[in-house]
Amino acid sequence: MKIGFGITGAGHLLLDSVELLEKLMTKHDVTVLLSAAGEEVLKMYGLYERVERITGGYYNELVKEKDQKFSFPITGRFSLGKYDLFIVSPTTSNTIGKIVNGVADTLITNAVAQSGKGGIKTFIVPVDLESGDVDTVLPSKLELDLCQKCDVCDAAASCPGDAITPGIEIDLLKCEGCGECAVACPFSAISAGKIITIHMREIDIENTSKLHNFKGIEIVEHPSKLQEKL
Ligand SMILES: Cc1cc2nc3c(=O)[nH]c(=O)nc-3n(C[C@H](O)[C@H](O)[C@H](O)COP(=O)(O)O)c2cc1C
Ligand code: SF4
Repeated sequence: MKIGFGITGAGHLLLDSVELLEKLMTKHDVTVLLSAAGEEVLKMYGLYERVERITGGYYNELVKEKDQKFSFPITGRFSLGKYDLFIVSPTTSNTIGKIVNGVADTLITNAVAQSGKGGIKTFIVPVDLESGDVDTVLPSKLELDLCQKCDVCDAAASCPGDAITPGIEIDLLKCEGCGECAVACPFSAISAGKIITIHMREIDIENTSKLHNFKGIEIVEHPSKLQEKL
């Protein structure tokens, strides 16, 4: 099968989505599309290289929003029906909000719109599905209550991306999620993969529920549920 696989800028369900992608790549031609935020967030969670490693070649490309300028020429493949299906996982509340309002101004929202025109079945895995609280995972974080403000910061010295301002913060746009800093800090002041609870916003839940009425789009609650649908 030829599959399009979109990744947006959500940390929630990101690892599960990359694991699904790795499985699909062994059996299918998969073109991976990254929203601009998707590329950044994959890097923050140390997952970008995993995706880059398994992509490459005709219909197995790694397509980045920033390389697709404003008109997203790659999405012509979707309007021409060249893929058997399109998966977006994880899908941010931002991308869902745009899709349900007919906005197509990002690589992923445009590919969803063109899939509709090209008759390509689209599976969306939203991060905001049901009201209430949800546990999610953070990228690397400097825990200021544990930081001893050492004269020489071992964590900053270990960072390949020069992302750490000692005693202040980690610049996530420079962070590659390698975890070196967490190992180097003698006071365990860097957390990596910390779980926090966030509260779903009603507007995001409402937007996700509107997707049920979209012809050709199916909502899937978790990346692990997708394989049984192929
Ligand atoms: C570390 C990090 C994690 C994020 N996780 C989420 C998330 O789980 N869900 C979400 O809706 N947005 C999340 N965001 C915010 C999105 O990346 C942001 O809204 C972005 O504009 C989405 O663009 P996109 O929908 O085009 O990918 C996260 C941002 C950062 C920096
Ligand atoms: S050392 Fe820490 S801050 Fe620097 S890139 Fe690795 S995870 Fe990010």
